[in-house]
Amino acid sequence: MVGGMKSSIVSFRDYLPKKDAFTTELIFGLSQADKSIPCKYFYDERGSELFDQICNLPEYYLTRTEEFLLQEKAAEIAELLGPEVLIIEYGCGSIQKVRVIIDSLRNPVGYIAVDISPEHLRIAAEKLAQDYPSMEVHAICADFSNSFKLPRGLTRQRCVGFFLGSTIGNFGYKHAAKLLSQIAAHVGPGGGLVIGVDLKKDESVLFDAYNDASGITAEFNLNLLSHINSQFGATFDLNDFEHEARYNCVEGRIEMYLVSRRAHSVRVGENLFYFAENEKIHTENSYKYDITEFQALAAEAGFLIRGMWSDSNDLYSIQYFQRPSF
Ligand code: AVI
Repeated sequence: MVGGMKSSIVSFRDYLPKKDAFTTELIFGLSQADKSIPCKYFYDERGSELFDQICNLPEYYLTRTEEFLLQEKAAEIAELLGPEVLIIEYGCGSIQKVRVIIDSLRNPVGYIAVDISPEHLRIAAEKLAQDYPSMEVHAICADFSNSFKLPRGLTRQRCVGFFLGSTIGNFGYKHAAKLLSQIAAHVGPGGGLVIGVDLKKDESVLFDAYNDASGITAEFNLNLLSHINSQFGATFDLNDFEHEARYNCVEGRIEMYLVSRRAHSVRVGENLFYFAENEKIHTENSYKYDITEFQALAAEAGFLIRGMWSDSNDLYSIQYFQRPSF
């Protein structure tokens, strides 16, 4: 795996399912009595821009708290990870946050970027390869919410998965456990996982984080419909829906919905969907965890806790898990 100096990515693999699979999933969600659209559809180009704006909102404490923790604890995290690791980052986005850890690691040998958006992934991975020519950089375009195998021969080194941004919170308990098991299989015995986990807290703090005063989260939620219109030939009118986000304390999650302002019908390809006034489309869950609750979930996937860092207000945590060596 370790080669000479590289200033370009070593491989780019496209594991994205065919468009038909996405259409089936979308039609299925809209055909249920409680309508839903998977939250991965937030992230077209405009959606990714809006998400970047969310990350800078005063109410959205998650990103800045995670960045603060990564910065503050980089040396400690790097020491625990050890030398010559191969990083696999799930949902790597623009590959920025992880750099502070790469800079602190001793002789990291490689980096595998995994993301759903092909154009962004290629650009971000090429940039990383240029900036870190001593590391082998590979890119895998995949929908990691579904299972996929890493190409053989890519992971002979000790691997550490990175799953930042509290993205794990966007999966229900069972799905999250499955995803963590997939990461455990990717990193193999002795491999690790550094993960960002948002914590349970005062409901008003959570409410404000998903109902920002400037309305960016509302725009992000509604943009999902524009994405569906352009990708699947649908006829959603954004003026017919409004944003709703509320904390469900029984489930321990923020729930986002798009609420129909009036009774009307929408075409998606060949299919016609009827919306009653006030009928909701469920667009996202964002689970919040207690520290022990999350560690129990990770243990189901065979991960043992090795390090945990949180801010002084216990808003957010970075946790480091490891699989036993055999
Ligand atoms: C990407 N994910 C962790 C964000 C969250 O907080 O659940 C997405 C988001 N939805 C609304 N605001 C941000």
